[in-house]
Formats: sequence, structure tokens, C-alpha cells
Amino acid sequence: MTEKQSLSFVLNGESREVSIDASELLVDVLREKCGMKGTKRSCDVEVCGACTVLADGLPISSCTTLAIDMDGRDVTTIEGLARNEKLSRVQQAFVDHAAMQCGFCTPGMVLATTALLETNEKPTDAEIRHFLRGNICRCTGYIKILEAVKSLV
Ligand code: FES
Ligand code: FES
Repeated sequence: MTEKQSLSFVLNGESREVSIDASELLVDVLREKCGMKGTKRSCDVEVCGACTVLADGLPISSCTTLAIDMDGRDVTTIEGLARNEKLSRVQQAFVDHAAMQCGFCTPGMVLATTALLETNEKPTDAEIRHFLRGNICRCTGYIKILEAVKSLV
């Protein structure tokens, strides 16, 4: 029998308590138990960045993180960025620069960019490329994404 645990955390600014299996991954809990379908699952091995969320403001791969490790912590998904139906400045920059095609990588890209700009307001091109190296996009060729991020610097 699988052991059930109670996960208490702050998700997108709201306190949540969720009953989970000890072995459940964060990506599954976010998508299937919390309704945060913006968190994408792709490679499952911490390579593509599609499942990126912020834990206490820092990007992590939710596909390789146990949900229970988020107990007592603050998690932000793409659904938590907009305020009062207004996109965050990073989301708006991605829209303004057409920095997406299929959009599958976009939540992870936007969250990683949000974390970058929180820690480094004026990253160089090299720093942007380095910070986003863990987020793979199969559509855009990255140029529009870089333009979007640079517009915020
Ligand atoms: S699905 Fe998590 S890094 Fe690819
Ligand atoms: S927009 Fe399709 S993977 Fe990035």
C-alpha cells in the first residue's frame, strides 16, 4: 500500500493542502491535483525545462522533484504570474515579441526569465543564454525569445 502524506504549501499565493503519495512527483501533483496544466511534461529527465516552476523564487524541474519536498515552501506556476487579469511584464514581452509558436516551452521560459530578472536586473546576452540553457524550444530558433528578454533589460 502506498503511504499517503499531506503536502502543505503556498501555490501561486494561496495556501494549499493536498493528500499525495510519498513518491508523487511535483509535476503530477501540480497538473492533476492542483489543476495547473500550464506546467508541461516532456522529457521527464530534467533536460527540456518544459516543467519548470519556481520554488521560493528559483526555477526547478518539477519532473524530477518530489512533491513532498515542497512542503512549507512557496511554488509559482505560470498561472500565478498574471495579476488582476494583467499579464506580468515577462509574459507581455513574450507576446509583444512573438516569442512563441506552439507554446509548449513558453511557461518554463517565462518562469525561468522571471527568476533571472529577479536576481539580475540587467543580464548580458551571454548571461541570458546561460540562464536559459536548460529551457529547450523546438520552434522559435530562440531569436524572438532572446529579443523578448532583452527588451526587459
Ligand atoms: S519535463 Fe522536466 S525537464 Fe523536461
Ligand atoms: S514555441 Fe514550441 S517549443 Fe518553444
